[in-house]
Amino acid sequence: MESTLYKAWLQYSEVKNPASRVTYTKLLGNVVVGVEATDDVMDAAIEELALASATMLGLTSQVTTEPTGASYVRIGTVTDAMDWLELAGDHESSASIKQDLKGLSTEGFVLRQIVEKQDSYVLLIGGSSKGVLYGVFHLLRLIAKGVELEGLEIREEPTNQLRMINQWDNADGSIERGYAGTSIFYHNGEITEHLARIKDYARMLASVGINSIAINNVNVHEVETRFITPELLPDVARVAGVFREYGISLFLSVNFAAPMQVGGLTTADPLDEGVRLWWRNTTDTIYRSIPDFGGFLVKADSEHRPGPFTYDRDHADGANVLAEALEPHGGIVIWRCFVYNCMQDWRDRSTDRARAAYDHFKPLDGKFKDNVLLQIKNGPMDFQVREPASPLFGTMKQTNQMLEFQITQEYTGQQRHVCYLVPQWKEVLDFDTHANGQGTEVKRVVDGSVFSMKYSGIAAVSNIGNDENWTGHTLAQANLYGYGRLIWNPECSSEDIAEEWARLTFGNDDQVVGIVCGILMKSWPIYESYTAPLSVGWMVTPHYHYGPDIDGYEYSRWGTYHFADRDGIGVDRTLATGTGYAAQYFPENAAMYESIESCPDELLLFFHHLPYSHQLDSGKTVIQHIYDTHFAGAEEAKQLQKAWSELEGKVDAERYTQVSERLDEQAEHAHHWRDVINTYFYRKSGVSDAAGRTIY
Ligand code: GCU
Repeated sequence: MESTLYKAWLQYSEVKNPASRVTYTKLLGNVVVGVEATDDVMDAAIEELALASATMLGLTSQVTTEPTGASYVRIGTVTDAMDWLELAGDHESSASIKQDLKGLSTEGFVLRQIVEKQDSYVLLIGGSSKGVLYGVFHLLRLIAKGVELEGLEIREEPTNQLRMINQWDNADGSIERGYAGTSIFYHNGEITEHLARIKDYARMLASVGINSIAINNVNVHEVETRFITPELLPDVARVAGVFREYGISLFLSVNFAAPMQVGGLTTADPLDEGVRLWWRNTTDTIYRSIPDFGGFLVKADSEHRPGPFTYDRDHADGANVLAEALEPHGGIVIWRCFVYNCMQDWRDRSTDRARAAYDHFKPLDGKFKDNVLLQIKNGPMDFQVREPASPLFGTMKQTNQMLEFQITQEYTGQQRHVCYLVPQWKEVLDFDTHANGQGTEVKRVVDGSVFSMKYSGIAAVSNIGNDENWTGHTLAQANLYGYGRLIWNPECSSEDIAEEWARLTFGNDDQVVGIVCGILMKSWPIYESYTAPLSVGWMVTPHYHYGPDIDGYEYSRWGTYHFADRDGIGVDRTLATGTGYAAQYFPENAAMYESIESCPDELLLFFHHLPYSHQLDSGKTVIQHIYDTHFAGAEEAKQLQKAWSELEGKVDAERYTQVSERLDEQAEHAHHWRDVINTYFYRKSGVSDAAGRTIY
């Protein structure tokens, strides 16, 4: 597909500025390649350069091993670079380049503009072909943004080791919590043979540094359970081949009961010899098909999925049997911590779902094999618009940990509302756990630097499907883009990422960029203000999770309650009088959350049950805050549409209309949220709005 919708941030639009055009044309006209790495990833890097040169500059690049003129891009690995530097003899920058190349990780790259005798060229050196690929995408980003290359001096390495995407795609083509059409991987119970779209997806992911993907839903159904069998492995291997070219390793979500369901055994007990052998043989078979297979992603004993509890074993027993099978091949087990009682009686006030991950996993610290990683959702509940960071981060000092975000907007407007999530993710990454004293932010726990973990990183649930624009809402592309850029370097700011995405996606017209960034940056606070207040969460239509239904989950078995009555609202999670959840944090945070005075306003109802008359730090009462934020949020949602309308004629008609329609729907729907929430609380509390606005 050739549409602007489809090309997302890889538009490679024509460079219009005449001076830049001349410079870039000279450079990209000749791509000089090194000889050390001549693999598929290197080929993909060269192909990407050629594709971009063709559309940005109308150029057919010449690929050679020696320069054909005085201006060129020279790409290769560290070994290539050393040869080149030696041949060229010492020049002004060689010492500093050598310094940059020292210890460059396999995924890192160095980009330099070099002026040497008559030559002026760009040197792009990767720690391996993967580093080259990332460097190529970086260089193309600079060109697309119109950056002057003179004096270019960049050295980048990713902060996180595993930078992963989880697809929640099912073999029947549906996507759990997918809001952008059906799966690009599966159709009618089969793995697709149409690989072109998967290749474009791989390009998009590699362009932002993603290096691993699990291609099937964590809820592994019947057909997907058989992905690990000789019958279906050739199909899986085909998909792995596409991702391999872009430096992305493939993982599968597996069914813990597979030894029974496909192996014909009578048990899946992880300590049973037959089961252990079955996993070993099965894993050996997988590696015969996919030698660089990443490993298994596992949801066990969670929301009715099978797991070790059936056999009275714990999660360490469960994970270790898989780890043992993967170990000889260098594979890993990613074991999810999303484990809680989903059959709770709402009358039972002592059970608190938020406590569950910590209660289940903390006692197992040190018991997992070293090729097991625990994948922890960012918050203790489930991807709400606001939650505190999970207290599990940093508490398991002898266990590999990774973080799980959700890019797909399950609880944040389902890609019908705009909700740019990078600022939310940044808050989680910047949260100081105090695990190792002050300054032990979540980002330093999951990048493995604090506790020297063997494996670590970040995963997120994808938001793409086969809609032409991939993400349903065109502006939701920014979340996929932003996720990759942020986890490559968590120090990037949300604003810079938004701006970069806007430039690559819509071009360099400053008015367009300004408006798009404005919309993105306001969107999360706006969404928060017209939905569930003060982090109490939920209040959504059960099952679908779109639209207000305040008591939808209040008397259900899911453990997701707000406890609103005529006097107040919120969940008492204090140690003194509540569920004790607050005490799961390290002392500094436990104390902050325990006290109403020091608990931040925005998390107040997550930790405390408070009367409507309680005064917030802002000076408003809880009830007035609810009214004010809902009136303001619905109004601001309307303003988003107004801001976008200024771009008519400045953004191509297809994308303009598509976004316009979604923003219309959002404005209307925000109004609905506003009235439902305000009316509910007015009727419950009997307290009128101080500003006398209409509440029904
Ligand atoms: C949420 C989501 C489910 C999903 C689950 C998970 O509860 O609604 O669809 O399966 O998370 O993360 O496993």
